[in-house]
Amino acid sequence: MREHIERVLFSAEEIQRRVRELGAQISRDYRNGGKKDPFGRPLLVVGLLKGALPFMADLIRNLDIPIHYDFMAVSSYRNGTSPGEVRVLKDLDCAVGRRDVLIVEDIVDTGHTLRHILRSLQAREPASLKVCTLLDKPYRREVAVPVDYVGFVVPENVFVVGYGLDYAELYRNLPFIGVLKPEYIREA
Ligand code: IMP
Repeated sequence: MREHIERVLFSAEEIQRRVRELGAQISRDYRNGGKKDPFGRPLLVVGLLKGALPFMADLIRNLDIPIHYDFMAVSSYRNGTSPGEVRVLKDLDCAVGRRDVLIVEDIVDTGHTLRHILRSLQAREPASLKVCTLLDKPYRREVAVPVDYVGFVVPENVFVVGYGLDYAELYRNLPFIGVLKPEYIREA
């Protein structure tokens, strides 16, 4: 798989260092007044499948506060549908009403996916709702979405793979994030 990568943007070590920083910052924020749940229940960390899985697994182990975690899966409009059409494939198992919720995403690109998820969760009236994304491409945004924690801004408009991010379902298991060689990108 590594020979398919043109260059590494974020090494495994850089990612782990940044995830530790994010974990420390999030723990601090929720300890220092960030929690709004009237019943004081643990922060609910919601991972978005499948891309956020490696990031989620590393991030939660760097959270030094009580948490619960759960997962959601949404269909990507990239699979031939329009940006308005984001469908929930797997919903949360638990209720989020009056809870503190932190969404964990792999990458925010146009913002359509995240906007859909935020609307869906906001309708359930959580006590607070925040977003943590490993990667951000702010220059690609088509709809404004609030992002509270960002691991890295992708410095240029390139398609990235690795550490959960895929191309045609491949490369999710790479421990780093890199750019695919053009010869491995097939036009649909
Ligand atoms: P958005 O709805 O355009 O913000 O896209 C969000 C989703 O698109 C992410 O959760 C990824 O699954 C996918 N995506 C966007 N950019 C990339 C990329 O550079 N590499 C891999 N997946 C991407």
